Amino acid sequence: MEALPFSYFSHYFPNSKSLGAVTNRILSSFGLRITRIHDWADPTTYIPFAETIAKAKASGLALGDYIDVRQGIAGTTAATIQGMQRLGVFEKPVKSLLEIGPGTGRYLAKTIQLCSLDRCEVYETAVEWARYIEKNYPVILQPTDGGTLKATRSDSVDLVQAHKVLCSTPFLTTARYWAEMLRVTRPGGYAVFDVATESCLPPAVVKLWADSGMPSMSPYPAVVPYKVVLDFFEANGAKLVGTFYAPLPPGKTEVFVFQKN
Ligand SMILES: C[S@@+](CC[C@H](N)C(=O)[O-])C[C@H]1O[C@@H](n2cnc3c(N)ncnc32)[C@H](O)[C@@H]1O
Repeated sequence: MEALPFSYFSHYFPNSKSLGAVTNRILSSFGLRITRIHDWADPTTYIPFAETIAKAKASGLALGDYIDVRQGIAGTTAATIQGMQRLGVFEKPVKSLLEIGPGTGRYLAKTIQLCSLDRCEVYETAVEWARYIEKNYPVILQPTDGGTLKATRSDSVDLVQAHKVLCSTPFLTTARYWAEMLRVTRPGGYAVFDVATESCLPPAVVKLWADSGMPSMSPYPAVVPYKVVLDFFEANGAKLVGTFYAPLPPGKTEVFVFQKN
């Protein structure tokens, strides 16, 4: 039976889950069926759980490496962690880590290896992936409302990170998480995240995004001007240590490393 990707349909129809079920009943008489893949219009979801785990296993790769390879960006996760290393994030022992939106855990796994953790907290909206992370890593899964780090004490975390999350969230979610990252990071600690800034979007790359085939309602790439990021963090008690780029197919995203004063 041929499977059509559900996400091609879901953003057109607000009540797409029940629509999918009805459509499948009709399609089944023709030997067709709709399956759900990543709904690119909803950034609080993530790639399908069971299918991704099964395919990673079949590939013989570690889950995080499989995701990199599948996205055509092999080695990207490691390169980002090395970029953080070069900017001094791991120079002093990182004893407390907080990650927003770890998804499969590809960044979490590599970050943990460089830390000497007493405490690791995660906030994740995709329920199956949140449970997977809780089961497979030494983390506290915090109640996640999608915009705050309410369960975390102020000035308590050595490193707060969000990779490939804020490059897809609506601006208010991003701004709320920035404020929260600044609140929970301890003085001297680091806040690391990426957004698509203007330098990620030269005309040729704008065209690549336009031609990418993603649904029009997709929030990718969530664009934030560099100066808005810099001004906000500097106005709220942090200094920019540096930035570097990471691929975000078909373009790229800018990774910011801030240190709280
Ligand atoms: C594109 S995925 C990236 C996952 C992972 N960081 C990686 O790069 O493999 C974005 C992740 O952030 C989660 N997410 C999206 N919006 C969120 C929010 N408002 N709060 C917490 N997690 C969120 C999604 O469920 C998903 O796991």
